[in-house]
Amino acid sequence: MKSLVVYDSNHGNTRKTAEAIAEILGARAIAAADARPEELSGIDLLVVGSPILGWKPSEKTIAFLNSLGKGRLAKVKAAAFDTRVKLFIHGDAAGKIARFLAAAGAEIIAEPRAFYVKGTEGPLFEGEIENARAWAELIKKKAGSD
Ligand SMILES: Cc1cc2nc3c(=O)[nH]c(=O)nc-3n(C[C@H](O)[C@H](O)[C@H](O)COP(=O)(O)O)c2cc1C
Repeated sequence: MKSLVVYDSNHGNTRKTAEAIAEILGARAIAAADARPEELSGIDLLVVGSPILGWKPSEKTIAFLNSLGKGRLAKVKAAAFDTRVKLFIHGDAAGKIARFLAAAGAEIIAEPRAFYVKGTEGPLFEGEIENARAWAELIKKKAGSD
């Protein structure tokens, strides 16, 4: 199974989360700004992660998602995550990313997932890297189950 993790990160929290997920999946983790269309060729599983910035995914994440043509992710399984602060009103990035991925033809195999940071520059709350690894194990199992 060929997997890829694409992320955006300004302060490193989403990158660290993406790298933990990629390690479990045996995948490369690449920055959204570096994700060329050829990186996607032949992949079976795509995981995309972004910080929530102003209630939505980052601009680089949205630019990457917009670069995916309709049907570009046909036969690709996918999942999305975001990093965010613990606020009563926080907006959403993971759910929006999942909708973009589905619109590009991907099969979404896991609920969009949030990982929490302590402040706008982080760090991640204790246990979140372990939670990211556990989420990646779930995705790996689901992706390999058919
Ligand atoms: C300009 C800015 C806007 C943000 N807006 C939100 C937001 O709307 N909702 C939220 O939950 N977190 C928000 N955050 C917190 C970030 O999502 C969080 O710090 C994230 O983990 C940063 O990821 P990074 O370290 O990968 O850059 C914002 C942070 C910044 C710097």
